[in-house]
Amino acid sequence: MLDLLIANVHTPQHKGPVDVAVADGKIAEVAPRIEAASHRTIDGAGRLLIPPFVDAHFHLDSVLTRVPNSSGTLREGIDNWALYKQQKLTVEDVYRRASQYCEHAFSMGIQAIRSHVDVCDPQLRGARALTQLKRDLADRIDIQLVAFPQDGYYSAPQVREQLLSALDMGVDVVGAIPHNEPMYRQGSESLHELLLIAQERDLLVDVHCDESDDPNSRHVETLAALTAQLGLQGRVTASHITATAVMDPYYVSRKLIPMLAAAGLHVICNPLINVHLGGHFTHPKHRAMAPLKDLLAAGVNVACAQDCNEDPWYPLGNADMFEVARMGAHVGHMMGLEALHTMFDTVTVNPARIMRLSGYGLTAGCRANMVLLRATSVVEALRTSATRELIIRDGAVRGGAAVPPSGNRL
Ligand code: FE2
Repeated sequence: MLDLLIANVHTPQHKGPVDVAVADGKIAEVAPRIEAASHRTIDGAGRLLIPPFVDAHFHLDSVLTRVPNSSGTLREGIDNWALYKQQKLTVEDVYRRASQYCEHAFSMGIQAIRSHVDVCDPQLRGARALTQLKRDLADRIDIQLVAFPQDGYYSAPQVREQLLSALDMGVDVVGAIPHNEPMYRQGSESLHELLLIAQERDLLVDVHCDESDDPNSRHVETLAALTAQLGLQGRVTASHITATAVMDPYYVSRKLIPMLAAAGLHVICNPLINVHLGGHFTHPKHRAMAPLKDLLAAGVNVACAQDCNEDPWYPLGNADMFEVARMGAHVGHMMGLEALHTMFDTVTVNPARIMRLSGYGLTAGCRANMVLLRATSVVEALRTSATRELIIRDGAVRGGAAVPPSGNRL
């Protein structure tokens, strides 16, 4: 006896409509017609069933702080965040804002978030709040945390110890920000030290890398070289790398992108934030996003992510991964039919690979985490930011527009 049968749905990967059978919190079978008895059957009416969205680059410690940024620059954002940390940040404050956002994100179909957490705070207030939140929300969202030295790994002598304490506390991934170190040389040194920590502790790495309009900011080259030298292929992510948009095209196409591909580096673009924060100081204005199309063509695993939501860097955001993918499609010239499907992958399967989510997907044996959309195709869903009708987590219907407040079934 099945626990749940979702009949007559389209999915991003199957040619025609299928039925999806769920038992013990897992997908038992996906087939054109499943006759088995089930405790509950939902008529999908030909709508699109997808695996949940994965947001692989976010900042839960600063979310919903609603700090204004009048210049719209990365620098003012970092400065305003430093002031907020000094004056207002508490463990309770981080927990309250982050949990409020996660509840909303869950209703928008997101079930996994990789969040950076600032470890330049001697009291590690963000890390304390978010490691607790990670445990408390485990039945709804898989939260993965990155120890992120926002002000620079060498900004203060105690940052190394704070970063290690955060990892001891349950923060999962090693972060870095080489372009924000006091000297260029220290950017390279920080990468070396931090990759060694990751190697020693067998952890993944996610670097805020070359988030800048400076064509000479080439830390991603160092990151790729060190990743290969230390045998960390497939474990390291370069986030942002917006400087690649203004680097010499010969260097990017002939040296850098092949290097990233050979090192198995993952790349995360944050289209909304990249376009907003980048391009302030160049004329003519450039697109301020990494060459997503070229990276994908070279075989690099690329994800798109939200990064910020109503915080010192970005006043908008709605946990809508369709909005993220749409901006990526516009900026990255990804409007062909196949390209739009690829953009959908950049907010689902590609970031799931980056986060190494186990049992992710819509095949037998995967966790029964799914979202039913009010659309019949990926392109329609992407175009309309389709309503999330049903949110299913580990085989149970946990929300969605089709679930009345009483919790009754569809
Ligand atoms: Fe970020």
